[in-house]
Amino acid sequence: MSENYYVTTPIYYVNDKPHIGHSYTTMLADVLTRFHAAMGEDTFFLTGTDEHGQKVQKAAEQRHMAPLAHCDETVVRFQELWKRLGIHNSDFIRTTQERHKRIVCKILQELFDKGLIYKAEYTGHYCVPCERYFTEKDLLEGGLCPECKRPTTKLVESNYFFKMSQYQDWLIDYIKTHPGFIMPEYRSNETLGFLRKPLGDLCISRPKSRLSWGIELPFDKDYVCYVWFDALINYISAIGYGTDDEKFRKWWSGAHHLIGKDILTTHTVYWPTMLKAMGLPMPKSIFAHGWWLSGQDKMSKSLGNVVNPMDMMNLFGVDAFRYCLMAEMVLGSDASFTQASFIKRYNSDLANDLGNMLSRAVKLTIKYFDGRVPTPGSLEDVDLELKDQAIASIGLMRNAVENMKIDRGLEHVMNVVRAANRYMEKTAPWTLAKQGNMERLATVLYTASETLRIVSGLLLPVMPSKMKEFRMKLGLPEEIAERSDFSGRLEKWGTLEAGTQVHDTEALFPRIVIEDPMAQLKAEGKKAETKPADKAKAVAVGEDMVTIDEFFRTQLKTAKVLEAEKVEGADKLLKLKIELGNETRQIVSGIAKHYQPEDLVGKIIIVVANLKPAKIRGIESYGMLLAAKTGDTLKLATIDGGDFPSGIAVG
Ligand code: ME8
Ligand code: MG
Repeated sequence: MSENYYVTTPIYYVNDKPHIGHSYTTMLADVLTRFHAAMGEDTFFLTGTDEHGQKVQKAAEQRHMAPLAHCDETVVRFQELWKRLGIHNSDFIRTTQERHKRIVCKILQELFDKGLIYKAEYTGHYCVPCERYFTEKDLLEGGLCPECKRPTTKLVESNYFFKMSQYQDWLIDYIKTHPGFIMPEYRSNETLGFLRKPLGDLCISRPKSRLSWGIELPFDKDYVCYVWFDALINYISAIGYGTDDEKFRKWWSGAHHLIGKDILTTHTVYWPTMLKAMGLPMPKSIFAHGWWLSGQDKMSKSLGNVVNPMDMMNLFGVDAFRYCLMAEMVLGSDASFTQASFIKRYNSDLANDLGNMLSRAVKLTIKYFDGRVPTPGSLEDVDLELKDQAIASIGLMRNAVENMKIDRGLEHVMNVVRAANRYMEKTAPWTLAKQGNMERLATVLYTASETLRIVSGLLLPVMPSKMKEFRMKLGLPEEIAERSDFSGRLEKWGTLEAGTQVHDTEALFPRIVIEDPMAQLKAEGKKAETKPADKAKAVAVGEDMVTIDEFFRTQLKTAKVLEAEKVEGADKLLKLKIELGNETRQIVSGIAKHYQPEDLVGKIIIVVANLKPAKIRGIESYGMLLAAKTGDTLKLATIDGGDFPSGIAVG
């Protein structure tokens, strides 16, 4: 019997645009969905947006817009980004949709009728960024929010409460008797730790006089529903709770929530008690992953230190970006985001190990077998060893998916790729060819190609379009190339048919060469103080074409070098004072090995004028000059003749 796999992401606040944190959770859900589908399960993947509450109302006010108009505009940024990132969600829920609001009202009314919601006078401290109430004793010194450490506001008002406290013992027991309900295990312990203190009732309303942007309580028109109570219900309203029983039962029985650790309590305490009160079974799991950090801090919209996913996508290409995100974060733990670590990961895993291996196998097949998959002879030990490792990696990947260790699964797969590269060294196909040992050569190339077929099948959920291309280059027909079937064809050794044509076109993962001195310093592991979201200029991934409008977002201008000097303690760097029309600026550039300061003065160069300022070795740099480098030779892009005004647009 095939299982049903229903996965959800948090629904994101539409107060701003998405960053890589949101992209990560959504991508993880997409990758998991594709893995589970490959494992023969029926899948449903839900994401969406959280559109009510004070945070969104404030964001709309700041833009002088009606809240819904603001939401309508911001939601598109999420939807479009997901499309660009190759996310195939089955549904997208917005909490402002009728289908959701109706169910929230129905649940509120039912709980009210059951006596599980009551009205009382309330004093609390509210944190707007977290949209949470805290009691006096929860607060940190100075009245700060215990979750995000920002100031809270004291509120005294009449409100409605959900009798959450009465489920405390039940919840503790449920968590203890259901290992795997909250994952990783340490998050389960964290929740149990939270539950050691007496659990209060949950304030689930806001008086309209203070906050009007929300779902009106069906039993009191003066109040709207608390945004978290409204938001959590999306997980069931989207799959037919209260409207389509069959659909609801089908998916809810296989429900898995993915969240970041920032919203653990709402998901592991509020939500289970709400479900219990409604008489519904618990989801199968709630998995909280760690944070992408920028330096020591959480990357977050309100801290303003976010990395724009589009920049990363342009640099790496969608699929490689997906791979790097999945491989670089140990699922559950925090991970520091640096562009340098992504470039390193890309170059070593994708450009070197995987890309090279494919290109070796295909090129040799073309050279010695006329581009046709050769017929293998009998396998020797060295072949069998690689074959066994490749087949074993299917089980390891499957395990990794089931135990939420995607990064580990990818590591196993890359180990096979590395073993395949070593296999090529050991078996030395080029020597076999020289010796005229074509039968052995055929076996070696076939073994290598079959290994790559399996490996690429395992990587398909992470890099759907690149791996499809990869598999077609190996000679697989399109319908097999784009599908992964973990229990059937994938493990069947011998699927590549002898005689089919392989293809060798341009490299799938061209090396990323960094030309920006700032990024260069970072890649070398030296400390460059850069502002996050600074985009290094890199020669990347030729697959993304830009439109003329996109091109002109980069303002290239002529600039005159007024002064140039060496930077003490950094033998690659020169500090330049440049004139840009009426403006003078300072830029720092890694060209000291190629130009003497005095040779530069008076030259008309080309700079990126709208690059965000950054500090390189503590020196402010505002702009970047253009240069080309081959081997050890670097030449500046200059204006022909040199007698030309500065500050003129180039393009
Ligand atoms: O909390 N690293 O929405 P939100 C990793 N609307 N993941 C991150 C991240 C980071 N630095 N920053 C954000 C809300 N995320 C509520 C949820 S659900 C019923 C309501 C991801 O826009 C991570 O998944 O603040 C985190 O839990 C989520 O975005 C929070 O998104
Ligand atoms: Mg948040």
